[in-house]
Amino acid sequence: MSTYSLLSAGRTFAGAGSIEHIKEIAADLGATRALIISDQGVARAGLLGKPKALLEAAGVAVTVIDSTPPEPDVGQVEAILASASAQSYDLIVGIGGGSAMDVAKIVAVLLASDVALRDLLRGKATIAKRGVPTLMIPTTAGTGSEATPNSIVLVPEDELKVGIVSPKLIPDCVILDPQLSAGLPPAITASTGMDALTHAIECYMSKKGNPFSELLALKAIALIARSIRRAYTDGSDLDARHDMLLGAYYGGMCIATSSTTAVHALAYPLGGKYRIPHGVSNAILLPYVMRFNGVGNEAKFRDVAISMGIDVAGRSPQQATTAVVDALFALNRDLAIPADLKQWNITAADLETLVDGAAKVTRLLDNNPRAMSRADIAAIYQQLV
Ligand SMILES: NC(=O)c1ccc[n+]([C@@H]2O[C@H](COP(=O)([O-])OP(=O)(O)OC[C@H]3O[C@@H](n4cnc5c(N)ncnc54)[C@H](O)[C@@H]3O)[C@@H](O)[C@H]2O)c1
Ligand SMILES: [Fe+2]
Repeated sequence: MSTYSLLSAGRTFAGAGSIEHIKEIAADLGATRALIISDQGVARAGLLGKPKALLEAAGVAVTVIDSTPPEPDVGQVEAILASASAQSYDLIVGIGGGSAMDVAKIVAVLLASDVALRDLLRGKATIAKRGVPTLMIPTTAGTGSEATPNSIVLVPEDELKVGIVSPKLIPDCVILDPQLSAGLPPAITASTGMDALTHAIECYMSKKGNPFSELLALKAIALIARSIRRAYTDGSDLDARHDMLLGAYYGGMCIATSSTTAVHALAYPLGGKYRIPHGVSNAILLPYVMRFNGVGNEAKFRDVAISMGIDVAGRSPQQATTAVVDALFALNRDLAIPADLKQWNITAADLETLVDGAAKVTRLLDNNPRAMSRADIAAIYQQLV
């Protein structure tokens, strides 16, 4: 039997009002000078005032950089790193979705070492040591970046997103407070929530799946399946928001112990070249890739069906597999996720480029439970153009 490991954040607080624990975290980490990294949407939603005030009340000097763009590219991360370098910090706080948290995680490492971001992205260097201590506070329930050893950066010249993966990127502390995601607009609730569901389903099916990811993935799937429609319809439903944050966090932990697979691999060129938001591209691809993966993996699909609350009594494993795929299509329809790629003007003429981009993501494709050839990848994109 091969070995496996579970890597997780040092300390996690969860529940409505858990933002108050930021004072305890600052004290635990011995913080005196904190940098909050966030973005304009989060700042406009009024989510930075409270954590900043709580830190200041605990005697911590706070600087805020709220200029993280959505799905940042290498130049944009370098610009944030340059402004962060003006002072020294002993705590980096990422507040936002995957974009802000990924930047906070990589900036924390880069501030503490002289490795170049571009060398990390080109695989010419690795992260040798942990960076400035980090606290991640997700305000979307999607990427699970608060629990993963990954930072994703767009490399515009290659038209591809690149994942920097290192155990040194795992955050020190996390706060999962549903009050901070209550104002997340429905469309972002839908797409980021589908990203989280994709993490859980993919990590469960992945060749890197193991007893840790099985436990976490099935629970994540159940939490998200029961609450995503409620969170979408009524954002102020804190129980639904809590389920979504936990589901996304468990999904992130799954990534830390297992791996995503072909959905994420095929989504990479859609983000890199066409700038389709990460959650949207995953959501669109999910039912199609799962229909492909179903063949030969029916036992696992039956487990997923049960976690999704699908009644499998009297159904064959093949019928349970079909039921999961149908349920994923229905979820996308209910959440108003686009049904295909046409609105981005992607046509059959783009297939070759898309296949080239996806085929490069062997880090994830190799973990897909069913081998996927270039022709298989093309056939999946073909259904979406
Ligand atoms: N590190 C990982 O493990 C990992 C995994 C998957 C994806 N990613 C990366 O994460 C990024 C996507 O992150 P995301 O999907 O969370 O989206 P995001 O961080 O880009 O946020 C989407 C939008 O939502 C807004 N927003 C966030 N919280 C809000 C709130 N509470 N109220 C109102 N508006 C709010 C933001 O301002 C932004 O405009 C991509 O770059 C993707 O590649 C990282
Ligand atoms: Fe993802």
